[in-house]
Amino acid sequence: MLPCQLNIAIDGPAGAGKSSVARAVAQALGLIYLDTGAMYRAITWKALKLQVPLTDANALGELTAGSEFCWGGPNGAPELCMDGEPLPAAIRSQEVTSQVSLVASYEEVRKELRQKQRELGKGRGVVMDGRDIGTVVMPAAALKIFLTASLEERAERRLKELGQDSSLLPQMMQAMARRDHKDASRQHSPLSIAPNATIIDTTGLSLSQVVDLVIWHARQVCLSEGE
Ligand code: DC
Repeated sequence: MLPCQLNIAIDGPAGAGKSSVARAVAQALGLIYLDTGAMYRAITWKALKLQVPLTDANALGELTAGSEFCWGGPNGAPELCMDGEPLPAAIRSQEVTSQVSLVASYEEVRKELRQKQRELGKGRGVVMDGRDIGTVVMPAAALKIFLTASLEERAERRLKELGQDSSLLPQMMQAMARRDHKDASRQHSPLSIAPNATIIDTTGLSLSQVVDLVIWHARQVCLSEGE
């Protein structure tokens, strides 16, 4: 637990370890964890299911506006849900992964999700991870972390996560580089480093080392706020 209430923004490219770090930091500090990438994935999954054309920004914006995100896991755990149901495993499928950058590039979708993200975090200490959390969604967050790692290590981690063979490393590196480029070069809220963010290169670091580092920074912020 921290001696102060804090919002923590964690941004960075795919495979930098944001979700694992953010989840573990939130658990250690008694904060809520919000995976904003899962929200972009959930909208992409729903659009595919309902056959909303992924080229129709207005229809996707309407679909997003009409989607209700909520907190509700078993035994009151703060797990993210959509339209009253837990998020399906299919939000991590190859099909969704390959289309989500396109859906996330539309301001019509982003403005709706941004508002929902702020609502979900309102009034409580929250750790949010994504691409534009420190820059756009929570620009006033007391602690902003930008996590990164070499492309090779990020691709290796993703293969391990998916249980896939390391011979697929070149393809995975290529796919990730493509997604990084899309996320960083889009017109609206591109992946970028907030001016006052702490950059942590996680290449060669274990999950617990990164978690400890973030917690150390969080404590420093609380200490400086108490001065
Ligand atoms: O972190 P992830 O791979 O689950 O994110 C899925 C996609 O959503 C990714 O291509 C970037 C996009 N995204 C975004 O644009 N803004 C966020 N705050 C979070 C994710």
